Amino acid sequence: MSDILDQLDARRDEARLGGGERRIDAQHAKGKLTARERLELLLDPDSFEEFDMFVKHRSTDFGMDNKHFPGDGVVTGWGTINGRKTFVYAQDFTVFGGSLSKTHAQKICKVQEMAMKNGAPIIGLNDSGGARIQEGVEALAGYTDVFQNNILASGVVPQISVIMGPSAGGAVYSPALTDFIFMVRDSSYMFLTGPDVLKTVTNEVVTAEELGGAKTHTTKSSVADGAFDNDMEALAEIRRLFDFLPLNNRAGTPTRPFFDQHDRIDNSLNTLVPDNPNIPYDMKELVEKLADEGDFFEIQRDFAKNILCGFIRLEGQTVGVIANQPMVLAGCLDSDASRKAARHVRFCDAFEIPILTLVDVPGFLPGTSQEFGGVIKHGAKLLYAYGEATVPKVTVITRKAYGGAYCVMAPKHLRGDINYAWPTAQIAVMGAKGATEILHRKDLDDAEKTAAHIADYEEKFLSPFRAAELGYIDEVIQPHSTRRRVNRAFALLKDKQLQNPWKKHGNLPL
Ligand code: HXC
Repeated sequence: MSDILDQLDARRDEARLGGGERRIDAQHAKGKLTARERLELLLDPDSFEEFDMFVKHRSTDFGMDNKHFPGDGVVTGWGTINGRKTFVYAQDFTVFGGSLSKTHAQKICKVQEMAMKNGAPIIGLNDSGGARIQEGVEALAGYTDVFQNNILASGVVPQISVIMGPSAGGAVYSPALTDFIFMVRDSSYMFLTGPDVLKTVTNEVVTAEELGGAKTHTTKSSVADGAFDNDMEALAEIRRLFDFLPLNNRAGTPTRPFFDQHDRIDNSLNTLVPDNPNIPYDMKELVEKLADEGDFFEIQRDFAKNILCGFIRLEGQTVGVIANQPMVLAGCLDSDASRKAARHVRFCDAFEIPILTLVDVPGFLPGTSQEFGGVIKHGAKLLYAYGEATVPKVTVITRKAYGGAYCVMAPKHLRGDINYAWPTAQIAVMGAKGATEILHRKDLDDAEKTAAHIADYEEKFLSPFRAAELGYIDEVIQPHSTRRRVNRAFALLKDKQLQNPWKKHGNLPL
């Protein structure tokens, strides 16, 4: 009997060694942790339960029948993060470069299916040379099975991808189908076609880092939602994000104890908006001052900085935040900002996370590059996302809400539930100067008349009161009591019921 038990231990020890000491050393030398070390940091101590530790590939070509590593290059299972369950897979680069065989894919599919059945998120730690070259189409079939499960799981359980090494070719499409992608700086990259092929086909000379490193994907392509300096920081931040997320689309948002006064008055907010409407201020300051303990998890921090997206907690409950940022492009909406915010609104709505929108937007960014780039379609994405969302929606207009951008940024007319404005709000088709230049073109040579027209327009529209008279703003509130008002609004909306008309699915302007 003891022999059999010893055998199990020996088999487990062998599996835990992955591709062996030499390859583990090579992994460490690159500043990367192994798959198992990563899972240890991601999950609560002793919570990891592994599946399929002894699975082996079944290929025989190219001498593969003599090359076997138990587990076949991916560690799968489940565990907990601060006591809440999650399914996980971590590709093991020390085994065939973490490449994906048919059996490797089957292991991932198994945890994906368990995640959907059991209503828990799935976190994938990607570190792979792509399709197992020796397996040909079998590996491609395996990838596509994973993609299909990514698609089915979308909107059912949160899916998080962390890129911690190579991710090349069609392999990038599994992360791309998930809700969030995070990368590790200097050790991860994602591209469809690598630098060598690029050089041959297009004559472009570019490094892997330039083509698909963390900087590229967080600042230019927006493929990634964030980047971290090393494996340890990445895994700690994923734990932090996980705490904000519901386990599935029916579980409701997590609520946890908070140590912040629910009606905290913040007098500094009374002077956040400068007297001069052309002077910017940092909207992040408002987000942080509203949040429980100032904790804001920002998504896509380095892309389309004219809009802020992320998660905070209010009275312990997760809330998704979308906020114009006047510090960048005066807070204008453009194609990138619209896409970024639309995606966040849709994630929140899919997982029943209430949405707080903070508005200071002088309009859509004008210009040929925006028009040629399809700002009409991209802006429509945000409009569609807000209008489709049935979760509680609370909006606070701090300053400008002009033109089409007013219509897009969660107004009453897109089924906003509680819409507040600060006394500094200006809700109008456009600014007073622009309006005068159009309405009173013939008087423009007369400075006195022009000044009078501007003053007239300002008095009529550049305040929240015209909108408040019409009921488009539920209440004009004091900036210093915004946290209390917003908290009360979300408390009121806790049992909100709203359903869209039945349809197979809508046709989001993609
Ligand atoms: C089988 C692979 C492999 C692969 C790496 N290895 N990639 N084995 N299939 N795709 C093995 C290597 O043979 C080596 O084995 C070990 O993994 C480590 O690889 P190295 O090359 O030594 O590591 P490194 O120098 O760090 O380079 C990593 C790499 C490189 C950049 C990922 O290995 C590479 O270019 N691999 C091929 C990438 C690729 O073209 N993949 C197919 C993409 S197309 P030993 O035994 O020496 O340790 C694709 C299609 C998906 O994925 C389509 C989905 C629809």
